[in-house]
Amino acid sequence: MLVKTIALDGPAASGKSTVGQLLAQELGFLFFDTGIMYRAVTLAALEAEVPIDDETACTRLAEETHIDVRPPTTDDGRTNDILINGADKTWQIRTPEVDANVSEVSTYPGVRAALTQKQREIGQRGEVVMVGRDIGTVVMPDAPLKIFLDASAEERARRRYQERLDRGEPADYEEVLSIVRQRDQIDSTRDVAPLRPAEDARIIDSESISAEDVFRIILKFAQEKGIA
Ligand code: CDP
Repeated sequence: MLVKTIALDGPAASGKSTVGQLLAQELGFLFFDTGIMYRAVTLAALEAEVPIDDETACTRLAEETHIDVRPPTTDDGRTNDILINGADKTWQIRTPEVDANVSEVSTYPGVRAALTQKQREIGQRGEVVMVGRDIGTVVMPDAPLKIFLDASAEERARRRYQERLDRGEPADYEEVLSIVRQRDQIDSTRDVAPLRPAEDARIIDSESISAEDVFRIILKFAQEKGIA
């Protein structure tokens, strides 16, 4: 039986979440942003004052932290409530401090093993749009449709900068760009599950295409594959 999973990978702020949510809505699929899990473990470590370079402690947190994604209960622009061990941490997982540390936590093999297992359990139920860095290569290598969404670091930093301003948060473009570049570097050079397109992924450059158009392109691929 065809497991209807769409694997949507790409670097930071390449538009995966926006496009993924449009797709999930259109197809009636679950939208699952795996980056939330890496962010949740990073926030848990920062809050517990666990040193980010303590791989063993971070791995334990990945195994023990309870992460839940629920329908939104507050009308403040959120698409979901993100609960970490029962507490609402929807915006706390998006701070510059988490941005600056999440890629290092994501290099730890133990952290990846714990989170990958949870992601597969959900992916294998099918009818999921799963967004991340290694969905097509590691988490769901049998996904019938794999997309790798890309754009220049400058364009992606502009998008992230704008998101911050839209939320009424202070933002500095040069700082956002430098963190985007640093995360790209760590994410694509790590030993385990580095950021790269799967061999059979369709690569889409979203530099000058709107999210709406990217959505339509992927929807067409999904129809061709018999997923939509
Ligand atoms: O939203 P943004 O694209 O900035 O990042 P994210 O998708 O929330 O992911 C945050 C970080 O988690 C990434 O920079 C990766 O280091 C890590 N990640 C990963 O390693 N594997 C995934 N499947 C998803 C995220």
